[in-house]
Amino acid sequence: MVTPHSPLTPFSTVIRTASHEEHTEAETSSFMSDLLGGRLGVDAYTRYTEQLWFVYRALEDGAEALREDPVAGPFIRPELARVVELERDLAHLRGADWRTGLAPLPATEAYAARVAECARTWPGGYVAHHYTRYLGDLSGGQIIRGRAERAWGFDRKGDGVRFYVFEGISNPAAFKRGYRELLDGIDAVVADELERKRMVDECKFAFALNTAVFRELGDEFPLSA
Ligand code: HEM
Repeated sequence: MVTPHSPLTPFSTVIRTASHEEHTEAETSSFMSDLLGGRLGVDAYTRYTEQLWFVYRALEDGAEALREDPVAGPFIRPELARVVELERDLAHLRGADWRTGLAPLPATEAYAARVAECARTWPGGYVAHHYTRYLGDLSGGQIIRGRAERAWGFDRKGDGVRFYVFEGISNPAAFKRGYRELLDGIDAVVADELERKRMVDECKFAFALNTAVFRELGDEFPLSA
C-alpha cells in the first residue's frame, strides 16, 4: 500500500497531504472568514494586501539569485511574479503615494525575513515557501478575488484584485499540473529523504507564518472577537 510517507508517493502529494491541517487552519482563521464573509471594510483588505507586498518582495527579490539553482531554479517563472500587480493594487487602494507610511506587521516582518533567509541559504526551503504561496494563489486565490470584487466593488480582474490575476497563465489547472510535476521531480534532484522531509516541515512553517499574519490582522480588525 502506498502511504503518504512511502517513497513511492509523489512529492506533490506528500507536501499537500502533510500541510492539509495547516491549510484548514489558515483558511478558517477569523480574519479570513470575516474578510471573505464580507464583514470587513476595504481598509482590512488593504492592510492584508500591504502584508502580501512585503512577502512577495522577499519571494521575488530572492528569486533572482536562484534562477540557475538546480532545486529552486525550475520553479521560478516570470508569469508567477506578483510584485508589479501588488503595486498596482496598492496604488488603487492607497493612492499614488502608497509607499508612504507602509509598514509590515511584526508577523509579516518575520515571515518575509524567513523567506529571504531561505532564498539566501537554502533553496529547498525557498521551494517550500514558493509552493505555499503561488500554488495557493492559483487555487483558493481565485475564490478570494471573486469575493473581493463583490464586497468592495472592484472591476472584474481590475485594479485592487490584480494580484489574483495571472495574465500569463491562460490555463491555471494545466499550470498547476506542470508545477506538481516539478515537485514530483524533486526526488531526483534532492535524493536525501531527510532533506525532503525538511522541505515539508518548512511548508508547514510557511502556513504557520501565514496564520500568524492573519492573527495580527485579526487583532487589528477584531470583528469575530
Ligand atoms: C480563505 C482562504 C483560502 C481558500 C478559500 C483556499 C482554498 C483552496 C482550494 C479550494 C484549494 C484547492 C485547489 C485545487 O485542488 O486545485 C487550495 C489549494 C491550496 N491552497 Fe488554499 N485556500 C485559502 C487560503 C490559503 C492560504 C492562506 C494558503 C497559504 C498561504 C493556501 C495555500 C494553498 C496551497 C499551497 C494549495 C495547493 C495545494 C496542492 O494542491 O498542493 N491557501 N486552496
